[in-house]
Amino acid sequence: MAKPKGTSDTELMDKLVSLCKRRGFVFQSSEIYGGLNGAWDYGPLGVELLRNIKEAWWKEMTYRSNVEGLDAAILMHPRTWEASGHVENFTDPMVDCKQCKSRYRLDILFEELSVKRQKEALREAEPGKYEGQQRDEYIVEEFKKKAESEPGKILGFLTCPNCGTKGTFTEARKFNLMFKTFVGPVEDSSNVVFLRPETAQGIFVNFLNVQASSRQKIPFGIAQIGKAFRNEINTKNFLFRTREFEQMEMQFFCKPGTDDEHFEYWREQRMNWFLSLGMPKERLQWHRHEPGKLAHYAKDAYDIEFKFPFGWGEVEGVHNRTDFDLSRHEEYSGKSLKYFDETTKEKFIPYIIETSAGASRSFMAFLVNAYAEEEAPTAEGQMETRVVMKFHPSLAPIKAAIFPLVNRDGMPELARKIEADLRPHLRVFYDDSGAVGRRYRRQDEIGTPFCVTVDSQTLEDQTVTVRERDSMVQERIACNELLSYFLMRVNHF
Ligand code: GAP
Repeated sequence: MAKPKGTSDTELMDKLVSLCKRRGFVFQSSEIYGGLNGAWDYGPLGVELLRNIKEAWWKEMTYRSNVEGLDAAILMHPRTWEASGHVENFTDPMVDCKQCKSRYRLDILFEELSVKRQKEALREAEPGKYEGQQRDEYIVEEFKKKAESEPGKILGFLTCPNCGTKGTFTEARKFNLMFKTFVGPVEDSSNVVFLRPETAQGIFVNFLNVQASSRQKIPFGIAQIGKAFRNEINTKNFLFRTREFEQMEMQFFCKPGTDDEHFEYWREQRMNWFLSLGMPKERLQWHRHEPGKLAHYAKDAYDIEFKFPFGWGEVEGVHNRTDFDLSRHEEYSGKSLKYFDETTKEKFIPYIIETSAGASRSFMAFLVNAYAEEEAPTAEGQMETRVVMKFHPSLAPIKAAIFPLVNRDGMPELARKIEADLRPHLRVFYDDSGAVGRRYRRQDEIGTPFCVTVDSQTLEDQTVTVRERDSMVQERIACNELLSYFLMRVNHF
């Protein structure tokens, strides 16, 4: 994302959100009713971009001899979520303001406090103790320790960010993030089911079904793309944290003892996937989970983080989940989930290496990465600012736009024929309104990598100009070579 001079990160996000609405990438869910917090709709261009991301992931992960695909149901037997630990552990600490009824995630409430407020809260909580201490680093460190060990002590001295009243927070309570609903007409506890909070469990419970039906031998993986739901207390930053989102997960089953090697392999593969789709190295980083802060199922875990305008944020996790998941499902279902190795005659519960990416969060990262504002010459040679979405061509919603230079002399007919020839193979767009320069700008703004113009020379020698989005360089290509030219450029950028 080329940040224009003098533009703040917030302004940049505002511009992106506004472009998304104006050009049909993303709309607020049920907007005419005032919207629904944490839910978004993908418009005509957004759905293309999202599908292209998912398609790129699917090809990358399943066009291999040792990875199979799956599409499991969103609703699963409720015991699944007891076995997985979600019923017990998938909670966030939450506090309410008794005055205005606003609800906050405790860790976020603490995280977003300025150092000045942290200082005030500490001094009030323990008068005298922090009087001489002015160093910010010391205060931040002390505040962090206190927030972890005795959150209640600080809470009483905090001001509600919404109504500004002090000391009105309730005690922290555990809030389960799973959405609950009921199967059948009777709404009682025996009919409770959950909307899955991750796609992973659908893979674990199908491990032996997939293995037996596909005759795979360990090591092998199962990949799945699908919706997940979390009743997040604080949704924020556009598509970054939503209540309904899509995941792209792959679980790789391997023999215990070989897990470290597979873990490293998949870490490298996943980072390379983002790089291969045009993300620059400097916008991506690894974040390793500290040993004391690992999830209950993990032996080791890394996140791939992307540099969003609001800071670094996770787009994908790569986890060594050990034999936790299959052991728990074996215990809770009473069915053996052991793998029998025919060569060594050993029976064991495989270890699992998980790669878990958010499709919607990746969508946002690709959007942010693509956005650029640049100075570019108009047809008259004057400089103007153009907004251009520099998507990798394989992700771009529309691959080529086709323009007749003027609406006469047989140019529209020829342009329509080119459109009709390309349309079965590529998503293309026909535009004959306004000056060609303006048509280019409209396509730049939605990231169309190629614009084809039919002009008077086309009528003579059956060639057209093809203008490339980023370099704005134009070349002449024979009409009958356009399809192979685009297919090659879109897939091998
Ligand atoms: N099966 C492991 C798992 O679900 P996670 O770190 O909770 O791990 C994996 O989620 C990915 O799903 C994240 O890296 C993120 O891209 C995406 N994700 C998680 N919660 C999300 C939310 N509320 N909104 C959008 N994407 C989310």
